[in-house]
Amino acid sequence: MEQKSREIQAMFDDIAHKYDLLNRLLSFRTDVRWRKKAIKLAKISSGQTILDLACGTADMMIEMDTRVQGVKLIGGDFSYNMLKLGKEKFPAGSFSVSDAHMLPFKTDSFDRITISFGFRNVTDKPKGLKEMHRVLKPGGRLCILEFSQPEGFIFSKLYRLYFTKILPFIGGMISGNKSAYEYLPESVYKFPKKDLYRQMVLEAGFEKVDFNPMTFGISDATICYKSEG
Ligand SMILES: C[S@@+](CC[C@H](N)C(=O)[O-])C[C@H]1O[C@@H](n2cnc3c(N)ncnc32)[C@H](O)[C@@H]1O
Repeated sequence: MEQKSREIQAMFDDIAHKYDLLNRLLSFRTDVRWRKKAIKLAKISSGQTILDLACGTADMMIEMDTRVQGVKLIGGDFSYNMLKLGKEKFPAGSFSVSDAHMLPFKTDSFDRITISFGFRNVTDKPKGLKEMHRVLKPGGRLCILEFSQPEGFIFSKLYRLYFTKILPFIGGMISGNKSAYEYLPESVYKFPKKDLYRQMVLEAGFEKVDFNPMTFGISDATICYKSEG
């Protein structure tokens, strides 16, 4: 694993115990609404086998399990502490220590892959996307729920103030790891812009990509389609 990935892994291991509390607090629970919308857009349905990559403490898995009966859920993450909390919260789920750059799954294994607030942390995004494309079944869909940069002059200025000043302050105070909450806005502002993002997804082998901005563009549920054959 490369050095940057190792640092990210250590950072999530360190903040795991406060992750859920801060997630709810700092997003004003909006993340719950975004997850529901992403699940709908990914067309999750009964009988599917789903990989929730970068599953963290399993919130997305729990949301899918609650909303859709009879789905087989596998959570993959490279932070042992996040996975441990995920297993405690969702004992019915299967979990696997997985690095997005080298997924420990056979080709054509999953009907759907979800990755919520995890993709921006994948250091080699083209490689991660190629791996996700490989393990998806033909006709499968990948749903990337991720922070984005809001549009509109005034709103984007206010958001930047909250995201780069207030959030790291509160996050640092509660988690004891301020740099983790400085890294969050940094990773969002460094995330590739829509055109490059689209190109990256298509170059990984997906045949189509749809963006679905939510809450003034603060987040986006991006759906990537693998062709039928
Ligand atoms: C912000 S948390 C999101 C957790 C969860 N999906 C959620 O929605 O709350 C990001 C997660 O991505 C994981 N992660 C980051 N890079 C990864 C990689 N290369 N492979 C696997 N997991 C990764 C971290 O360990 C962390 O649990």
